[in-house]
Amino acid sequence: MPETTADTAPETTPEPEPERRETSGATIELENLSKRYPGSAEPAVDSVSMEIKAGELIIFVGPSGCGKSTMLKMINRLIEPTGGRIHIGGEDVTDMDPVKLRRKVGYAIQSAGLFPHMTVAQNIALVPKMVGWSKSRITSRVEELLDMVGLDPGEFHGRYPRQLSGGQQQRVGVARALAADPPVLLMDEPFGAVDPITRDHLQDELIRLQHELHKTIVFVTHDFDEAIKLGDRIAVLRERSHIAQFDTPEAILTNPADDFVSGFVGAGAALKRLNLTRVRDVGITEYPTVTVDDPLQDIFNKLRAAGTNELLLLDRHNRPYKWLRRGDLMRAKGSLARAGTLVHDTVTRDATLRDALEAVLTDNTGRVAVTGRRGQYEGVVDMETLMNSVHELLDEDRLEALEHQHELQEQRAQQTHHEQEGDGAGEVKA
Ligand SMILES: Nc1ncnc2c1ncn2[C@@H]1O[C@H](COP(=O)(O)OP(=O)(O)O)[C@@H](O)[C@H]1O
Ligand SMILES: [Mg+2]
Repeated sequence: MPETTADTAPETTPEPEPERRETSGATIELENLSKRYPGSAEPAVDSVSMEIKAGELIIFVGPSGCGKSTMLKMINRLIEPTGGRIHIGGEDVTDMDPVKLRRKVGYAIQSAGLFPHMTVAQNIALVPKMVGWSKSRITSRVEELLDMVGLDPGEFHGRYPRQLSGGQQQRVGVARALAADPPVLLMDEPFGAVDPITRDHLQDELIRLQHELHKTIVFVTHDFDEAIKLGDRIAVLRERSHIAQFDTPEAILTNPADDFVSGFVGAGAALKRLNLTRVRDVGITEYPTVTVDDPLQDIFNKLRAAGTNELLLLDRHNRPYKWLRRGDLMRAKGSLARAGTLVHDTVTRDATLRDALEAVLTDNTGRVAVTGRRGQYEGVVDMETLMNSVHELLDEDRLEALEHQHELQEQRAQQTHHEQEGDGAGEVKA
């Protein structure tokens, strides 16, 4: 089919703008997918079938060696399956040219896997270059992606990976995987190598990105808490990637299919459900704030007017900086430089209640500051709100347990009834 359909377009149509809208997800269907590595007696992945909907974030969770990485690498054909078919967006890609497949499937791995001798921009540009994008289109895409993953393009595009923190490298890794705007994103334990606080923030970022992009994401982890936090659905895998359970986090937490799954869920299922509720779902409240540029007298006045014991001091970029207590101000003697307690941890709206609870306990101020995209202050969540949610969860659990018990009793009663009826049926009443 010819590219030009001139009859409706005006004569002087400019070069078509590269599509600004992001491509959203595509379905993935795995049909009896298998892999037997040469020389192994047992297959690493044994006839796995599964349907993933467009726009879903699916987690593969399972013990080390159960074939998670092998599954992912078959989906983007870094490894050739020895059996079965793969469909993406309804198209059979099992035999497709792997280079073409790269346009459909982005891939991010642990420790980002960035090329050390290439700049951030060059790393991100890899796939777009490979599939033949123009220079200008690549340049603007790199800027856009850096911004998308929360890195200042001007500051970061020329840096080398060794000049980045682990978390920043991981962000670049995600940007690179998204570069050619593929409908499918595969992530193999991407946050496995960073510290817990950075991991929480990267998880929040991924959730925010997914709200915007609606990609189909397959995310591998061996951390069940991470699975609960991120997954629309979770596939709990046992050896050879046999699916033990494939369901929503709620269903798996409340109704694990068998002992293997229960073992994975671990203890404290009720508290784990804190991972299912987001900060955005509970009350974010306002809190009296002042900025580093406010005169000390104004700060005093604000504290008096606020009727709280404490104020939140924001830096010049409107980011939470310190908690200022009344006593801190008394001792400040004209300068805020050494007054107050630094804010150690903040959460975004996409953080879980568990993250928020952890942050409250870390900062020990009875509340945690909620921040937006570039770390700007948006409000606070206080301990009371968090505890109310915990109580609700525990109450729900108790109710469910009671209902379950009640059902069991009914069943038993009915069974006894049947048995008695059955026994008595053929006998003559005395
Ligand atoms: N290239 C390979 N050659 C032979 N065996 C492999 C290869 N890669 C992985 N395996 C084996 O396949 C199984 C699954 O590995 P993998 O997919 O890496 O598991 P996971 O990612 O769940 O830890 C393991 O038993 C592993 O030893
Ligand atoms: Mg692996």
